[in-house]
Amino acid sequence: MSEVSEVRRNTQTPEAKRERPLLRLLMLALPERQLLITALILLLIATVCDVAGPLLIRYYIDDHLVKGDFWSAQVALMLSTYIVCLVVAALCSYQQAIRLNDVALNVIQRLRERVYARALRLPTRYYDDTPTGTMISRITNDTEFVKELFVHVVGAWVQNGFRVVGAFVGMALLDVHIMLLCLAFLPLVLLIMVVYRRLSTPIYQKARALLSDINSNLSESLQGVRIVQLFGQQKEFIQRFTRLTNEHFRVRHRNLKLDAALLRPLVDLLHSMALTALVFYFGQRSFVESVEVGIIYAFISYLGRFIEPINEITQRLSVMQQASVAGERVFRLLDSSEAPEFDGSKTPPNHRIEFRNLGFRYQDQGPDVIRSLSLEIPPGSFTGIVGHTGSGKSTLMSLLLRFYTPQRGEILWGGMRLSEISHIDLRTRIGLVPQDAFLFPGTVYDNITIGRLAGELGARTKPEVQALLAQYGLSAAFAALPQGLDTELSERGANISSGQRQLVALVRALVREPEILILDEATASVDSETERLVQRALLGLRGKMTLIAIAHRISTITEADQIVVLHHGELIEKGTHTELLAAHGVYNTLYKMQRQELLIATQATTPPAPSET
Ligand SMILES: Nc1ncnc2c1ncn2[C@@H]1O[C@H](COP(=O)(O)OP(=O)(O)OP(=O)(O)O)[C@@H](O)[C@H]1O
Ligand SMILES: [Mg+2]
Repeated sequence: MSEVSEVRRNTQTPEAKRERPLLRLLMLALPERQLLITALILLLIATVCDVAGPLLIRYYIDDHLVKGDFWSAQVALMLSTYIVCLVVAALCSYQQAIRLNDVALNVIQRLRERVYARALRLPTRYYDDTPTGTMISRITNDTEFVKELFVHVVGAWVQNGFRVVGAFVGMALLDVHIMLLCLAFLPLVLLIMVVYRRLSTPIYQKARALLSDINSNLSESLQGVRIVQLFGQQKEFIQRFTRLTNEHFRVRHRNLKLDAALLRPLVDLLHSMALTALVFYFGQRSFVESVEVGIIYAFISYLGRFIEPINEITQRLSVMQQASVAGERVFRLLDSSEAPEFDGSKTPPNHRIEFRNLGFRYQDQGPDVIRSLSLEIPPGSFTGIVGHTGSGKSTLMSLLLRFYTPQRGEILWGGMRLSEISHIDLRTRIGLVPQDAFLFPGTVYDNITIGRLAGELGARTKPEVQALLAQYGLSAAFAALPQGLDTELSERGANISSGQRQLVALVRALVREPEILILDEATASVDSETERLVQRALLGLRGKMTLIAIAHRISTITEADQIVVLHHGELIEKGTHTELLAAHGVYNTLYKMQRQELLIATQATTPPAPSET
């Protein structure tokens, strides 16, 4: 589902729910209390020094300058206090800015780590309908906006909040009536803020979602760039991309219009109104009593000091809104439930696997993919699974690995329900050679040991890996790689052949000495000679570990202790190769078909005998 359609459903979020992300974001700074408190104290000092300036000048003008007193001890003291205030204000501002930035950077780093850790622990199901681009967008772009909140909003708001209060205190010290007059403008500012928040939230939500869709689109098309080029789909993909970026532009434009209309102009209007009111007030007063120049200067100066921070506060509303919307998206990810971590204490007494009356579908409304399937796999046995494409073979193995939870029936391991066994135990005891071998960038050796350090399960030194390859008769196949085990792999191992990728994935599973080894079409891409090697190696493992091999090519599993045939998620036949052939069912038909295909293929590749003329 695209993010935009998801947002459309969520736009009617109640106000209370919308407020929470901001609060939660601010709470993230709690562990940084010490830094925050120091920053706030520095800010307070800076503000006090800042506010003292106009007061000092007002006294200098009215009490000294007007009376022609330019140079006296008092004036010198005032001047030096004024300079000290300026210097202290600048120093404290600088120090507090550094601290607030540190808070922001720490918060963002922790948040990113949390989001990434959560993303890696999310149930496999989550990724079935969330594109990778969306996830990347949340971990990078959205968290970046949260940083903006701390760097550009929190500091500025606190500072400007202090300044506004300081300006009002300064005004109150000069004239309470005028201070009250200026205070009357504050509710207006609050009103602007509320209106802005209401109007901008849905726009920002849509903009973030569109950006996320743009990212998904990018990552999809770049990952599949070969297919895009092969099918000449560049134009279509570019058009789709342009459509999304155009819409993103339109939404951002609407937003900028809203910013331009509501933020600066309204505050400027407020400033002019306050200034007019002030001039009017002093004008009226001058009819009755004499008004000192210093006090007018001080008030005009305070007015600026009150309007400017308010202006800054409203200007940052837009960043705050974006952070709030981004925060909402990050929290949605953080709040989604993790893959269940099971009790963890139990270890199965043996490795008998039993599927009992299993039923499973990927989506609640989707079709049944596994239907009332019951099967026993004795420890140390070799089980072959065959069946048409889409019959549910890989799904059955995903259920055994707990990538998904079945809706009906259960899976027992050593008589224990799968849910009673620790998650880590479960995954480390089962080795899987998946249908599409995924390799990471790094050397072949790194991929085989998958970054494990000495002492950890599966950690193997290079000579140990070499010995293992020799044991399985795979040394020659690995020596054929450009630099053997040291061959550097590119993304997804794109620089070696599919068959070589499958071999790496096979050795990666074997190295960990699993108790159950699942091979999902593990030799589909290797040549028949390598396949025979692998087959021989596997037969050597017989009895040492439970083997489950899914195969389209029946020749791979004819030696199995039991072969099961899946058809539309149902187990329809079970027995040894000979038993199943004798049963003259689906297996028999499949076998005959494959033999025939093989025969035709052999005839086609055998060169015709030279004619005897
Ligand atoms: N992540 C998924 N979300 C929804 N449906 C899925 C998902 N994975 C597989 N399916 C569906 O479940 C059914 C069984 O798929 P599965 O991958 O188990 O088949 P298979 O027997 O392994 O096929 P193949 O031999 O082609 O590998 C298919 O109809 C498929 O469309
Ligand atoms: Mg499959």
